[in-house]
Amino acid sequence: AQTKALTPILNGLNIMITAGPTREAIDPVRYISNHSSGKMGFALAKAAQLLGAKVTLVAGPVSLPTPQNVVRHNVESAQEMLEVVHNDIAEQHIFIACAAVADYKLDNISEQKMKKQGDNLQLCLSQNPDILKSVAFLDKPPFTVGFAAETQDVESYAKSKLEKKKLNMIAANDVSNSDLGFNSDRNALIVLSKDSVISLEPKSKYLLALELLKLVKTEFNNR
Ligand code: CTP
Ligand code: CA
Repeated sequence: AQTKALTPILNGLNIMITAGPTREAIDPVRYISNHSSGKMGFALAKAAQLLGAKVTLVAGPVSLPTPQNVVRHNVESAQEMLEVVHNDIAEQHIFIACAAVADYKLDNISEQKMKKQGDNLQLCLSQNPDILKSVAFLDKPPFTVGFAAETQDVESYAKSKLEKKKLNMIAANDVSNSDLGFNSDRNALIVLSKDSVISLEPKSKYLLALELLKLVKTEFNNR
């Protein structure tokens, strides 16, 4: 399928994609993060580029090669990801938030390596900015697509995120199924928009990315 000629349905469109986890430093040698290989976001970047889009990929720390002809910005923390996203957001037609952003960051990052002491350790955390929401709430937002990794009530949690964040679409996956999602090369998605629910059956993340982008293009045209 990768060699099949693709119809360039995204010609003339600028698409920004966030991918991978973020890392919130505790001290110079430790951090808090999420499980995320970045594979879905990178598959989306590759697929969008091959469909004719000009693609900007904002990637947290992952060990994946940059897809051909994709502009890549590497970031670590959620705050850095937020800043890099907003630097270029005005030029984007479509924003796809595939990153597993850490919801909390340390109130104080220790400048020196922390020493082990006592039997217990408490860390003080505060909420990170919501990058996707900050884009969707702009005066002139691009077409916004979120992801939702859930372990239960997948569709209803995704629906409430779609509404609360004022998104155009959200792609939800059930991460309690260990064959799919996270580090897997395969995934399955439930794609929700205001008035549709579409299931994309398990397949490679690249093929899934192509199908998702077709749905995105259709909704983008109808917007
Ligand atoms: N997201 C983001 N910035 C954050 C948190 C989430 O951009 N600080 C984006 C993710 O990239 C994803 C979507 O928001 O596209 C949903 O992320 P998710 O973690 O499922 O939702 P949250 O709003 O963080 O809610 P919760 O973790 O409590 O389920
Ligand atoms: Ca979250």
